[in-house]
Order: sequence, then structure tokens, then C-alpha cells
Amino acid sequence: MAMRPRPSWRVVPPLACAALFGSCGEQSALDPRAEPAREIATLWWWMLAAAGIVAGGALFLLWVGWLRRRRPGLPLLGSNERVSNALVIVFGFGIPLAVNVVVFVVANFVVAKATDAPDPRSTPMTIEVVGHQWFWEVRYPGTPAVTANEIHIPAGTRVNVVARTGDVIHSFWVPQLNRKIDMVPGHSNRVLLEADAPGRFRGQCAEFCGAQHAHMAMYVFADPPDRFRAWLRGQAAARRSPSTPEQRRGERVFLDEACASCHTIRGTAARGRIGPDLTHLQSRSTIAALTLPNRPPEVERWIRDPQHVKPGNRMPALGLPDRDFDALLAYLESLE
Ligand code: CUA
Repeated sequence: MAMRPRPSWRVVPPLACAALFGSCGEQSALDPRAEPAREIATLWWWMLAAAGIVAGGALFLLWVGWLRRRRPGLPLLGSNERVSNALVIVFGFGIPLAVNVVVFVVANFVVAKATDAPDPRSTPMTIEVVGHQWFWEVRYPGTPAVTANEIHIPAGTRVNVVARTGDVIHSFWVPQLNRKIDMVPGHSNRVLLEADAPGRFRGQCAEFCGAQHAHMAMYVFADPPDRFRAWLRGQAAARRSPSTPEQRRGERVFLDEACASCHTIRGTAARGRIGPDLTHLQSRSTIAALTLPNRPPEVERWIRDPQHVKPGNRMPALGLPDRDFDALLAYLESLE
């Protein structure tokens, strides 16, 4: 007999979240996939329950007051002054105070500890993430690998993330994995990333950082460890040399035009640090911090008119002749 798929309890929090707030997409803090995120989600549910009790108590008192005004002399709770005073003290003061004390203690001494930055000396891996208006630069210390917006980590491994900024304050947040951490000018902060199992987790800048703050998203890919090692080896390598005349022409266009002053392609003279490293552009599934899928029509749209796609970003339209433009696209498509 065919087995029916068993409904998973995991779908309940995202569905509840979607019902309450419209949609929580694929980055719900109520769908944790790592121990620190589970601590935060548990705290959230307890806080919801506590808030429900406090709100219920307040509504109950309002109802009693309303009833007493409408029906003086009703033999109900409030007709006895001692009982009504006790009600106000218990629901209006005692329960809110107890809830606040418990939440303060649990949040600051239990959850904060469980979600704290790891000790770098006992953490197997460190990565650096630098926030920029509006993308994420990702570096793997000890290797030449640099990528953007799509962070790969080995699943089941504790990763120490060093968070910095290249301009204004950003906040690095992958809700399914851990708490957020601010990226503050002139300062490094750290946060732990560890995913229970392989998967893709969406993250988002959580501090307003200008016009395109909402379009500053990222993916964390937790890969099986051997796949991660292969990925990192690929990212550490220089760019694949252009293999057709069209691609070679595209590389010349890239180096001669403004592209090279903002972007790096390792293995060429392009060393710009303003925009994302493009050495292995084709290994990424999205461009412009998850604003567009990384497919030829969208890449073309982006390069022809970046200000239309993401107004205010620092990428200019190049206004190239069609032949150069096509060669440039062919070259970018070859950067695997
Ligand atoms: Cu970066 Cu908001």
C-alpha cells in the first residue's frame, strides 16, 4: 500500500505567521533551522502567550467595569469592593510585573547566551561579511575567495561571522538561523551561523540603510561539507579564461569601460572594490542582492538600465554600442 506523506508540524508556524501577517515568505523566524533560532522562536511563542494573558486580563477588567456601570447592584465580582480591588491588583499589576520579570530574565540570561557570538578560537570556520549600499560582500579568510549576496557554509558546522560595513549601518539577519547583528562603521561585530541540515535560508538587511534597504537581501546556502569544500575551491580559483573571440572582446570591453574600476575579476586587471566581485558570477543564482534572477535577460536588463531596476544604486548605465554590449554579456555568461 502506498504511504501517504505525513503532515509535518514544521508547516504550522509559517502558516500561522502567514495567516497573521499576510506572508512571512521563506525567512520566518518562526521556522527555525538552528539551535539559536529555536531559542528565539520559543521565546517568541512564550511572549505571545504572556501577552495574550495580559491582554485577556485587561479586557476582562474592562468587561467587569462596563457590566457594573450598566447593571448597578449586579451580584458579580465587582459588587464586593475587596474582590474588585484584588482583581485590579492581580491583573493590572501582579501579572504584568511577573511577565516582564520572567521575560527579562529568560531573554537576557538564557536566550542571549544561547544566541551569542562564538569564541573564534574554538569555532572551526570564520567568514567575513561586509555590508554595502546595497549588497553583501562575502570573504573566506585564508583563501582568495570573494563572493556576493550568496553565502555558502558547511551544514552542521559552527561558523563565526565577522560583520563589518563599507559605508552606513546595516544589520545582518538570517532569521531561520540566528539573531541579527548590526554592521557599524569602524567596528567589527560577530554572530554565529550554524544550520542543522543542508538548505537555503533567506536573509535580509534589518537596519534602514537608504533607498534600496528593502532590496538588500542574501541567501545562506548550507551545503553538505564535501560539496562546500568543492564550492570553496572553485571560488578561490581565478576567472575562467574567455574561450571564444566574442568572450575575449567582452573581456576587453569590461577592462576598458567603467566596469573594471568598480568590480574585481580575479585573473584580470579589474580590481574595483565598489561593486560585487564578479570572478564567478555564474555560480550565483541571483544578482543585485536577490533583486533579479541571474539569467541572461535579467542581467541584460540590469546592465542596460540599473537605475530603473534599483534606483539610487551606484551602478551607471554604460550606453555601449550593441556589438560591445553583446560581447560583454557573452563574457559575463562565461564567468563560471
Ligand atoms: Cu543595508 Cu538596510
